Amino acid sequence: MMLVYKVIHLAGVMMVFLGFGGLIVRGLLDQDNKKLRALGSATSGIGLLLLLVSGFGMVARYGFSYVDAWLIVKYAIWLALGALTTVANKKPELGVRLWWGILVLGIVAAISGVYKY
Ligand code: HEM
Repeated sequence: MMLVYKVIHLAGVMMVFLGFGGLIVRGLLDQDNKKLRALGSATSGIGLLLLLVSGFGMVARYGFSYVDAWLIVKYAIWLALGALTTVANKKPELGVRLWWGILVLGIVAAISGVYKY
């Protein structure tokens, strides 16, 4: 059961970054493309939802404390990624900074998830 949550968690990670890639590329091309915006927004949005559900599923199953420092880091990153989807759509000129910035956030989330500190 725990492994299912893990696979869903990782699928969520893939979807968030795939979706962000689409949204950032759309902004950098400097062309409105409604299909790409819808695809990127839906993929990253569903990915964030999967991360949240599977993440709390694992916390409950493993019996972690909900307020451990590494989990608070993850909550903050999750909130930041959600807010940054809007930034990707509204501020296309920030695309390159977002590109590298969300990568750093993803790596910090991975470190906190794997090492749990
Ligand atoms: C509310 C948000 C989140 C919660 C509650 C959460 C919870 C967890 C938990 C409990 C683990 C440990 C899994 C294990 O030891 O088996 C984990 C691992 C991990 N998380 Fe999250 N997470 C959240 C958000 C994120 C985000 C936003 C990302 C990436 C952008 C992320 C990426 C990872 C990765 C890469 C791992 C390690 C792989 C794994 O063991 O599944 N998580 N997370």
